[in-house]
Parts: sequence; C-alpha cells; structure tokens
Amino acid sequence: MARDIKKLLSDLTLEEKASLLGGKDFWHTKAVERLGIPAIMVSDGPHGLRKQDQKGDHLGVNESIEAVCFPAGCATAASFDRDLERELGETIGNECQAEDVAVVLGPAVNIKRSPLCGRNFEYFSEDPVVAGKMSAAYIRGVQSKNVGTSIKHFALNNQETRRMSVSAEASERTIREIYFPAFETAVKEAQPWSVMCSYNKINGTYSSDNEWLLTQVLRDDWGFEGFVVTDWGAVDDRVQGVRAGLDLEMPGDTKANDAKIVEAVKEGRLSEEAVDACAGRILEKIFSYLDKRDETAVFDREADHKKAIDLAGRCAVLLQNDGTLPMKSDVKVAYIGEFAETPRYQGGGSSHIHSHKVESALESAKKKGRSVTYTKGFGIADTAVDEAAIAEAVAAAKTADVAVIFAGLPDSIESEGYDRDDMKLPACQDALIAAVCAAQPRTVVVLHNGSPVECPWADQAAAVLEMYLGGEGVGEATDRILYGEVNPSGHLAETFPMKLSDNPSYLNFPGTLRSVDYQEGVFVGYRYYEKKELPVRWAFGHGLSYTTFSMNNLRLSTEEMDDDTTLTVTVDVTNTGKMAGAEVVQLYVADKDGTPQRPLKELKDFAKVDLALGETKTVTMQLTARDLSYFEEDLGDWFAPSGTYELQVGDASDHILLKKEISFTTEKVVPLHVAGDTITEELLANPKTAPVIQELIKKGMAAMGGDAAEGSAAKEAISDKMTKAMMLYMPLKSLPSFGTMTDEELAGLIAKLNG
Ligand code: BGC
Repeated sequence: MARDIKKLLSDLTLEEKASLLGGKDFWHTKAVERLGIPAIMVSDGPHGLRKQDQKGDHLGVNESIEAVCFPAGCATAASFDRDLERELGETIGNECQAEDVAVVLGPAVNIKRSPLCGRNFEYFSEDPVVAGKMSAAYIRGVQSKNVGTSIKHFALNNQETRRMSVSAEASERTIREIYFPAFETAVKEAQPWSVMCSYNKINGTYSSDNEWLLTQVLRDDWGFEGFVVTDWGAVDDRVQGVRAGLDLEMPGDTKANDAKIVEAVKEGRLSEEAVDACAGRILEKIFSYLDKRDETAVFDREADHKKAIDLAGRCAVLLQNDGTLPMKSDVKVAYIGEFAETPRYQGGGSSHIHSHKVESALESAKKKGRSVTYTKGFGIADTAVDEAAIAEAVAAAKTADVAVIFAGLPDSIESEGYDRDDMKLPACQDALIAAVCAAQPRTVVVLHNGSPVECPWADQAAAVLEMYLGGEGVGEATDRILYGEVNPSGHLAETFPMKLSDNPSYLNFPGTLRSVDYQEGVFVGYRYYEKKELPVRWAFGHGLSYTTFSMNNLRLSTEEMDDDTTLTVTVDVTNTGKMAGAEVVQLYVADKDGTPQRPLKELKDFAKVDLALGETKTVTMQLTARDLSYFEEDLGDWFAPSGTYELQVGDASDHILLKKEISFTTEKVVPLHVAGDTITEELLANPKTAPVIQELIKKGMAAMGGDAAEGSAAKEAISDKMTKAMMLYMPLKSLPSFGTMTDEELAGLIAKLNG
C-alpha cells in the first residue's frame, strides 16, 4: 500500500519530524507509533551481512549474527564482471530480507588514491569508471530485492588517517573527474536508496555541512532521489546539515540534535520546509521497504557459502605464469605459509563478517586427496625473519615438484581506522619467498591482501596468483584455480607499482594534521604511471588466463562525432586456446591533440565475456561526448575540444591490441574572461581573439627590438625566440610598459576582446 507522504508530514508535529532525522540507536531509525511509522534497521556490509543485535558498535567489537563473507570490493572489482557484482547484490539483498534489514551500508566506492589506505580492501578501484559501473551493478542487485543500499563515503574519504577531521584539498576538476564519477554513475544508473556522507572535510567544509555536495551536485546535477545519511558520528553542525540536505543522523540517540533542529525552526534560522524535505525522503524509503517486505525470504547459509566460493574463483587474478599453473593432480606439491591453513579472507572494521564457515586451501587439498605437504614457513603475525623456518620450507620445496607459498598481509596491517605504513609484505615472508624461489624454480606465490604489495621476488617466481581478500570461500576457490578446475579471469582494477615511492600521492599522503593536498590532481593510478613513463610491476587491467584470446575487427558506428552522437564500438573476441575461459575487453580513449594536463588515455568502458573453446563473441560498447571530455572549470562543465581522439581496445592498460581514430566537433565554447592578467597565448588560442592579438604581437615584437638587424649586438642579446616567448606570455596589463599602447587604449582593447 503506497503511503501519502505529504499527508503524513502534515500530521506530524515539528518535534516528531525532527526526531525522524536521527537514529534511535546504533542501527535503527526512530518510530512514530501514533502514526504507524515504524523504525527500520540498517546494517553493514558491503560484502556480507553484519547484523548486530541490540548492543551495536560500528567497529566490530560486539558479535554480529553468523553470516556469509563474500569476496571484498578489492576482489569483486577485479572480476570486471557486472553480472557477478549484481549476483552478489541480489544474494545480500535476499539475506537482508530474511533478517529484516532495510538498508545495507554499502557499496564502498572511494578511489584508491594510495595503496596505503587501510580501507582499500573494501573499495573497488583506482579508476572511477570501474568503481562506478561495479557499484551500480551491486546496487541494482541489492535493490532488486527491495532492500536499500547506502553508497559510501561521499566524498574524498581516501585515507583512514584523521578521517574524521582531515580536509581533502583538491581542485574541482580533480573532484569531478576522479573522485565523483563512481557516485555519479551509481546515482544516475542505479538510484541507491541512500548516500552516506564522509567524515572528512572537502576544501575546508565538512561533508555533513556541505550544501554544494549534498544538494547542488548530488540532487540538482545528478538527480539523486533518496536520503543522505551521515557516516556514524559524522555530524558537524546538525542545523547546517539540514540546510545542506543531510537527512538522517546516525547513530542514535540523537535527542540533543533533534532539539537543536526544532529550536532553529522556531527561531527562524531554519525553514520547516527543509525539515519536511529531509523527513519526507526518509519516510519514502521506510515505506518502500515495508510495503514490499518479503517475509518468505530465507538466509540459506550453505547455499550462500557455495556462492562465495564460486565468486572468489571468478575474481582471482593470475599475475604471472610460466606454465607451472594449472597443476596436474598427480604432481607433488609443497604448501608453505600459515595462510594455507588459515586464509586471510576479509578486512577489519565495520565490514567484518561473523563467518558461517571458512575452509582453507589445505583443507580443500586434503579433502580432494591431493599430493600436498604442509610447512608453516612463517606465522601470520610474524615479521622477523626466521632462518630455521625458512630452511625447513626450502627443504620441503626441494623434495616437491612444485612449491606453493601462501603469502599475504596480516589483519593487523590492513584495517579500517588506520593506514598502512609501507607497501611491503612482512620481512619474514619476503625472505622466505626469495629463498624458496632460489631452491625451487617452480614456485607459485598466492597472495591474500586487500591492496598492492611490493613484490621484489616476482622475477624469480614461476607464477603469482592474487586471491585478494576473497571471502570465506577463498581456500576452496584457490584450490580450484591451482588445479585448473577454474580458469582465472580477473584483471587488476589497480596498478601494482614497483615500490611505494612511485605512487603519485607519495609526497602528500596522509597529509598534515589538518589537511591533505591532492596535488597529483587527475593523475591517479595508471593515469600517472603512464604519463611519467614509470615501469610498474603489474599494470592496471592486467590479468592472465590458462587459455589465450584474440581481439579483432574493431568497428565504429561512425568516425565523426559531435556533442549529440552516441558512438557504438564493437569488437570480436575469440578463445584461441585450450580451455574455456573469460576475457575482459577494455576500451580506452586518448586525446590526440595534446590538450594540456590530460592522462595519455582513460578507461571508458569494459566487458567481461565467457568463451567456450574456439568460440567468438562480439562485444558492444558505447561512447558519448562526455567520454572524450575533461571537466573544464572555466565552463563549469565537461568539455572535449574539437579534434582527433583515439579509441584503444585491449586486455590491459599496457596491452592495447586495436586502435581507431575519430574526429570530434563541439559547439561548446569555453567562455573567455579577458582581464589585465590575461596572456596573449590564451587569446591566440581563441579563433575570435587571435587576429586582434596577432596584430599586437607584431607591433610588440618590433618595439622589443625584434626588427634589429641580423648580427647586430641587439639581436645577439635578445634572440627572436626570446622575443616571441616574451610576447606569448605577455599579460595585457604589461603592454603599455613596452610603449605599444596607452592605458586608455588597453582598457578599450579589453572591452573589445570581452565583447
Ligand atoms: C564506517 C562506515 C560504516 C559505519 C557503521 C563507520 O565507522 O566508516 O563505513 O558503515 O561506521 O558501522
């Protein structure tokens, strides 16, 4: 039964409406029983249900119900598979219905600015297109079960250090191009029921007070229809928050702030309409949930555990392989490293799941009767190099046909609440891997980590398999991949740099006591490494398979685009190898006319294709003018200059297989605001002002001695090149100083150019 929200709002007292804008406790909204408005429950995710009972806390201290832990965002993003993400969402949505949870607090989509961010394991990517498309798919999945999502943390929450107070300082262009699009795509494509605002400030203003963020951008520009909730405890000024469009404060009890809202309305500092707008948006979702409640839903933990195994297998990334993988079932294998026995499969903090069942790779191997020995080699919590343990591992590796080392980061290094200090594996693991590789050329390294690690031993390893934090099914999934029952098909949604200091945020992470400067601008991840020509360990988009693929026949629906064109790009992908597999087709765009300050190329779309042996499928993707554009601050809009753009298709950012150029024309014009400090270079670049300026330049060159005789002393001192440069970078205000015009003539010139 649909509710008349307007009627409900008119029946509620001001005090009751204010009370709806804050939680009752950690996980519930407030009820207004007199009018039949119940409380609803929200719970963390995002990669499983973390439903806590009454004594809630958001840091995982109190126990939550037993649930199923699926692969974390770092892993599911690597699948590049929207269907997988949707499937995960549907499963969690169903679990929420079974447990009467109305909104799951996720997905978490912040961009991985630095590999050190403690929460990278939950986040998707260094690339905004991957983060946006994958989160939209997850949201569609959850919400198809009539359960809400709360996409988080909006915005620029890219570190844990001082996350509750730090001011992220970035240009509007950087924010719009890198840090917003994941949220923008999710809102435009999937309308999450809720958006969670971040703790931090953006350019000096707390997200929870920020009207530009929560209303102008989120609602007016993107069309968001749901409610905004604070991150837990992120309120700064509750009354300003209501003005800004911050609907719900969590956690409860929020009586003091509810009273401030009432008082502000009574004193005329806050309009009652603003309170109504917030309450209305919350009520809409409360009743959306209740009106289509599915009382028949069942949380089948066994079935969902199987799904967790399946998903983990589809996310894993084979980083390198000399043919050692997959292993035949009769080879003698030495498993080394405590993670073989106790896999690390999830991160710490609010997303921590009380897992139903965890099976290690060693248990799977035993169950299947594999010929596997086990040597601990290092303990999960160890850091110091243990020569005796290494010697034992080396001996085991030597007597086997293949050594498989299960390496990774311990819980204590990667968690919500704090960042990593470095990008290394614990020293005992690096030393062990190097020693085993030296003794056994067929050494495979399996990684359990939520974010890149330095791999100084990579060139000595026969194969490296990134399992990420793969959820409770990661042990069995690893077994299936090692032995070829599953063909790996993940690709990296983030770059593995050679070393931490190569990362573009290195000099500005995590900032000073009060702020962090995003000085690298739009050059995040591969956008930076490519432009700097820095070698990386494994590039963004990279991932191998046990089979081979080819990509052919790149076709474009047109080679001439304008502001209104939707370009269709098609490409044929064939499985040319020896087993079924799945390939990730990646479409990048490069501006060929050298607009300053643009990455060499940027990912704009991708597709995952399952292919049987010998099968060919045609993949279709679409591009619009927005995909060619950068955010032009002078225009306050997306802008692609007229010119040539190259479309590049490949299976990794460093492996482009097909290219085609298109020409683009735009009607958009970047407005020119001519003033005294406008330089001639800018005016020359504009067809409207160029002729006027060329004349002036001629005069200026003469005045500056540009017409001095060849070989004269004047010519030797001031070359033509220098005169030209002086004129090119000359602000208009300086022209009178060189005698080319009077102050009055200058004022007239500026007026004419602006006209
Ligand atoms: C986290 C959120 C989480 C909330 C509730 C906060 O500390 O940043 O991601 O949803 O707690 O647990």
